[in-house]
Amino acid sequence: MIQFKQYIAQEISNATEIDKQEIEGYIEIPKDDKNGDYAFPCFRLAKTMKKAPQAIAEEIKEKILIDDKIIEKIEVLGGYINFYINKTLLAKEVLEELEKEEYGKTELGKGKTVLIDYSSPNIAKPFHIGHLRTTLIGNSLYRVYKYLGYNTIGINHLGDYGTQFGKMIEAYKMWGNEYDLTEDPINKMVDMYVRINELCKTDEKILENCRENFRLLEAGDKYCADLWNKFKDFSMIEFEKIYDVLNVKFDSYKGESFYADKTDEVIQKLEEKGVLTDSKGAKIVDLTDVGIKTPCLIQKANGSSIYATRDLAAIMYRAKTYDFDKCLYVVAYEQNLHFNQIFAVAKYLVDEKYVKGLEHVSYGMVALPTGKMSTRLGNVVKIEDLINGTIEKAEEIITEKNPELENKEEVAKKVGIGAIVYNTLSTASIKDQIFDWNTALNFQGETGPYIQYTYVRTQSILEKVEKLPKFEEIKIEKLQDNYSINILKLIYNFEDILVQVTTKEEPSILARYLIDLSKAFSNFYNENKIIGEEKELQDARIYLTDCVGKVLKQGAYLLGMEMPNKM
Ligand code: ARG
Repeated sequence: MIQFKQYIAQEISNATEIDKQEIEGYIEIPKDDKNGDYAFPCFRLAKTMKKAPQAIAEEIKEKILIDDKIIEKIEVLGGYINFYINKTLLAKEVLEELEKEEYGKTELGKGKTVLIDYSSPNIAKPFHIGHLRTTLIGNSLYRVYKYLGYNTIGINHLGDYGTQFGKMIEAYKMWGNEYDLTEDPINKMVDMYVRINELCKTDEKILENCRENFRLLEAGDKYCADLWNKFKDFSMIEFEKIYDVLNVKFDSYKGESFYADKTDEVIQKLEEKGVLTDSKGAKIVDLTDVGIKTPCLIQKANGSSIYATRDLAAIMYRAKTYDFDKCLYVVAYEQNLHFNQIFAVAKYLVDEKYVKGLEHVSYGMVALPTGKMSTRLGNVVKIEDLINGTIEKAEEIITEKNPELENKEEVAKKVGIGAIVYNTLSTASIKDQIFDWNTALNFQGETGPYIQYTYVRTQSILEKVEKLPKFEEIKIEKLQDNYSINILKLIYNFEDILVQVTTKEEPSILARYLIDLSKAFSNFYNENKIIGEEKELQDARIYLTDCVGKVLKQGAYLLGMEMPNKM
């Protein structure tokens, strides 16, 4: 497809002798298309060129040679040069491209490897709403990176290691027969853990047993290892239920325990570099030189490794195993310090190119309106209940709107999940958010169901015609009204949007895009008759409707939603 932005950048670069790439970075898309489809702000050049932006803009404009088949018009306004692209060319390029499968798919990332560490819940602990957010952010990033041609590896860095398992083993020894773990295992394990912790506070001997259990577990004792595996298996059954409904997959489930025997190498290497210091028997790395006040704890006084040590071992392992270009950690902002610390320590362990590729994709808290939607134990919401509750609610709404609908259950599932996915991904990751299913399920608001509903509309229009027109058969001139052009421009930007998702690690950009495209289609649909127009006009509009449907469906998939055909 023609690259308008690059074409413009090249022309400006020729006129100014400034690097094309740099120019491309400055080019903006005006909010109001009265100011063109692309704009180049000349303010940045004012200093070096020692002229007013307006004068610079005039000067550049004079020097630019444009092909009016590509750029229709150039105008100077204030310190901007505004470019108006040729809309016929735009339409032709976009519509032709849509004939192919998988619109927007590229090989941009070919030869590059991206690791995404996401979801990563803790064994024997609840999968909480924060885990839902990392799961969905990570899943969308995973899908988008893959679509752009990157070698993408999804990693579930399970929290399956730590001294707490010594306690769990002791609890099971004492009260195992009271708990049937085949049902609701996580809540029961949490219960056991709370109970044993209470006991440990007053009973030194029990605490000693717990420590001994953990030591045995580390030494590979069969009884302890079997129990630990049991806790892990029961937890995984619960987690997999969630991954299943959300259709989330991982390439690796190597969690913390996998790195337990690889932490010695970390310690050894840090020692070699002379950066490991003693602090009351514990081993730490001081990070004040990089402005981090809290040192990174590497080994506790009792000799055991910690979360950070295992993460450092994982960085070494991942560098060696995958030779990654990027390694993303989709983890809540509460762990900002942890990641600042381990990224700072990583420079002593792996090549600089790997350190550069480490990135914490930090996300904010999710709150739930309190009340009946949650089954609570302690303060924990069961995610399964939240998901199922939303699906049930979706079914009620669908039944009310469309009592005749077939496979309501299936549709309700897609709509319920769509509501959750969109709601979770619609705000910038770093912001805190609230999940309220009444808002999330509103078919008219900026929601997942609204996007799905728009898609369903496109499909029901297409159903009304006997045969879909082919690209060669349609008359592009028929799609030059503002509503059509608005859609064409959005579709044209799809790939750029996906690239932005990966450069900013921000699926909300795609979520926003899908709403914009849905709204653009609604406007087009409300203002234009599609069926019943003269043949050429009808064909052109049908073809455009089909294109919108395809892009919405593909985009929704990349966000993590499925489209129903009816709802
Ligand atoms: N298990 C941790 C938690 O639930 C998240 C792990 C994130 N990944 C990592 N490599 N540290 O908070």
